[in-house]
Formats: sequence, C-alpha cells, structure tokens
Amino acid sequence: MEAKDRIIVALDVDSLDKALKLVEELNPYVGLFKVGLELLTSEGSPKVVQTIQEAGGKIFYDGKFKDIPNTVAGAARAVTRLDVQMFNVHCLGGSAMMKAAQQAAEEISKTQGTSCPLILGVTILTSLDYGDLVELGIYDELNIADPEELVQVKRDRIERLAIKHLAWLAQENGLAGAISSPQEIRAIRNYCQPEFLVVTPGVRPKWAAVGDQKRVMTPGEAIKAGVDYLVIGRPITKPPEEISSPVEAAKLIAEEIAAAI
Ligand code: C5P
Repeated sequence: MEAKDRIIVALDVDSLDKALKLVEELNPYVGLFKVGLELLTSEGSPKVVQTIQEAGGKIFYDGKFKDIPNTVAGAARAVTRLDVQMFNVHCLGGSAMMKAAQQAAEEISKTQGTSCPLILGVTILTSLDYGDLVELGIYDELNIADPEELVQVKRDRIERLAIKHLAWLAQENGLAGAISSPQEIRAIRNYCQPEFLVVTPGVRPKWAAVGDQKRVMTPGEAIKAGVDYLVIGRPITKPPEEISSPVEAAKLIAEEIAAAI
C-alpha cells in the first residue's frame, strides 16, 4: 500500500456537487472517500456512491449500522451490492449482529465476484465520556477521593470497554478492523491480531487547525503508533491559507505518512 492509499478523506459536505468536486480534485492523491449520514441522507445512498465511483473514487460508507441481526444483514447486503471498499457497524449491536453483517457481505461479494468490503467496528463513540456511560447504565458512579486516581480509573474503564470488549469482539466475529481514537491505536495493536485493521479520525498535521477535535495526533505519530488508515476531513478539504489547496494538503500528509512508515 502506498502512503497516499492510507488517507481517507471525510466528505463532510451537504451536497453531492461539493463532494464530487472534492473527489475529482483529490482522487489521484488519496486512497478513499468517507461518505456519512448527512450526505447519504440528503442525496440518497446509491446515487452518492455511484456518482463518486464514476469519478474513480473508492468509498468508505460511514453508515454505522446498528439494529437486529436480520436488519443489519440486509443493510450489509445492500451496501455490498454498491461495491464499496469499507463500511462500519456499531460493536454495541452485539456479536450476532456483527457476524450477520460479515456473512451477508461475504455472500453477496462472492455472488457478484467483487472483493468483500472491509467491515469496521465502531467501539465507543469518542463523544461519550465516563458520565455518559454511567447515565447509560454501563458503569456505576465511582467513589474515589483522589482526583488523579479517579481520572485514571475512568480512562482505564473506557479503554477496557472499547478495546478488551468491543474491538476484541469485532475481531472474534470476523470483522476486518475497528475505528478508534488516536489514543487507542497502540492498545488495539497490543491486544488484537496484527492483521486487525485500525482506522483513526482525530488526525491533525502540525500545520492544521485542531478545530473541535479534542485529543489529536499528527499523521506521523498515528502511523508510528500502528494505524492502518487515517480519516482526515478539514485539514484537507479546508486547508489553512498557507497550504494553497486540498491537493497540496493531501500531498503533504502523504509525505508525512511515507516518512513515518
Ligand atoms: O474534519 P475532521 O478531520 O475532524 O473529520 C473527521 C471525520 O471523522 C468526520 O467525518 C467525523 O465525523 C469523523 N469522526 C471523528 N471522530 C470520531 C468518529 C468519526 O472525527 N470518533
């Protein structure tokens, strides 16, 4: 895999025209394009996928499926028929659901003679903190007086849930990999099989604005930690003024990845 192939550009735009413009410009310089719920819902999934494919783009379909196994299997069949390269499901949908998605994708890709999409498990959304997990009934409030210890125990528990339970379950149910925050890359690498893929958003080159991302890593740091693919949106689609264009931003990131491999 070339360095540029590890870059997944997040097409967080509200119209297919804007998405297509970015695909036409960036396709020679990156690996895949991530299409998510806003674009898919506003423009219609098959239309979005086919338009990007006609422009030569490969697709990460960020649909984050989570429902009963039968329903998710149906969605997995539908998205595999669209011949996307990657899609994702929530690990919290459970083992039977993950297995059903994997089986359905394998069946359809075999029938149509295409490669099976890589299915990635979403562990714990990085927008959730320990308090949210307590509210959801997953953990109890902690009664720890030392503030430093409290922070550490909360962090350990979230990591245990995300990696030792959910990423592990994704692997055991045959999924190709997991989406993780940059901070979890090393732990997944240590805990899961070497071929289990790690795909990470929250990546910021030194020259890019951090924006609303909280815990970021540079592309080079993420590669050294063992990531396989980087999901990058605004640093490429809206680069700072001193980087003249999205293409220039993508090239710089590919160079940084190549230097870190
Ligand atoms: O513009 P930026 O590089 O922050 O875009 C990152 C992309 O990755 C967005 O599409 C965002 O929704 C997605 N993402 C994320 N953090 C997660 C999961 C997905 O930033 N934990």
